[in-house]
Amino acid sequence: MKNIILTNSSEIVTCSGFKMKKGSAMNDVALVKDASIVIEDGIIKDIISNNDLENKYDLKAYELIDCSGKSILPGFIDSHTHFIFGGYRADEFSWRLRGDSYMSIMERGGGIANSVNSTKTATVNELVNLGKKRLDSMVTFGVTTVEGKSGYGLEKDVEIKQLEVMKKLQGMHSVDIISTFLGAHSVPKKYKSNPEEFIDYLIDNVLDEVVDKNLAEFCDIFCEKNVFSVEESRKLLLKAKEKGLKLKIHADEIVQLGGAELAAEVGATSADHLLQASDKGIKLMAENDVVSTLLPCTAYSLKEDFARGRYMIDNGCAVALATDFNPGSCFCESIPLVISLATLKMNMTIEETITALTINAAAALGRADKIGSIDIGKEADIVIHEFPSYNFIPYHIGVSTVEKVIKKGKLIYD
Ligand code: NIG
Ligand code: FE
Repeated sequence: MKNIILTNSSEIVTCSGFKMKKGSAMNDVALVKDASIVIEDGIIKDIISNNDLENKYDLKAYELIDCSGKSILPGFIDSHTHFIFGGYRADEFSWRLRGDSYMSIMERGGGIANSVNSTKTATVNELVNLGKKRLDSMVTFGVTTVEGKSGYGLEKDVEIKQLEVMKKLQGMHSVDIISTFLGAHSVPKKYKSNPEEFIDYLIDNVLDEVVDKNLAEFCDIFCEKNVFSVEESRKLLLKAKEKGLKLKIHADEIVQLGGAELAAEVGATSADHLLQASDKGIKLMAENDVVSTLLPCTAYSLKEDFARGRYMIDNGCAVALATDFNPGSCFCESIPLVISLATLKMNMTIEETITALTINAAAALGRADKIGSIDIGKEADIVIHEFPSYNFIPYHIGVSTVEKVIKKGKLIYD
């Protein structure tokens, strides 16, 4: 691989400074003007002023990418998705527009159960091909790392199949995939009257294989009224933690159940959704360094009010933003839409929004020491945007400003 220098940029939004930016620190994107980035062996070797570059480096030894008039940012990190699934649920979307609610569709046997059926019947090859296409689309939005969850199996073999599809994709695609075991995504029909028995099934029959085969880094659960209670969630998450997995929770999405409080109690890396999170839960997340991962495209798609991002930041939380790409509540992998909703609807500043998609998203995946900012020694996951200032990113509403994507020092999108 030829080493690269990104020369002559107008500005570099480094997002440097902290491993997790909490509260007002989210506004500091550590901007460097008129500088170049030297990349060697996939790692950021130097950030140097445009004027000093030629004196220090033999430019002939590098591939030069001219970034005049461009802004450079860390690659975006989509830290919450469900991108491996078979089938679609466009009919449910149309029902919701006519007044059905997400939970009422689920309660009458649709929703996640539909995707479970189509994921079960899909072959590994079909899922790999779909996954590849979806990852390719994410790259066009500047995504260099993505988290993906199982949860459309709800039984051992299909859960493992989903996780193995992601492992296979990791060997084929440049984007890094971080896998999450979400076996507790919905209560299968035969356990409806006793969800705790299903939690025991996951603990006794699935968790060990996930851990032994090294198929997931995180364990997640849909902690929600009429899905899994706080007690059931605590039971699974503590077991998963004991077995070495890090934790995430789909928390307080539809009803205020205490998911945010549970995330703080069990030491989760992040709690996600949080539309209904209580003041106390928010305070506890801030105190315990639990990243608040907000998913505005899901709120938008479900016609719900947005999560209280402004309040969370003002109360010291580290907020991350992600798409929640999935076939039901949010069939959307668009980072430009996340950015539009965060800035225009959640009253987050441009700087907070960028922080939430870079270093705080890295923190939500336990990766802030390697990715999420443009720092010497970090992996060279870097995106060149077409305009001279990062202010253009939300200003160009709903449109991707991404021009080139570099992953671990390699140009993967141009
Ligand atoms: O994050 N809330 C639960 N899980 C997903 C939706 C999954 C689906 O509807 O297929 C979410 O919104
Ligand atoms: Fe989700």
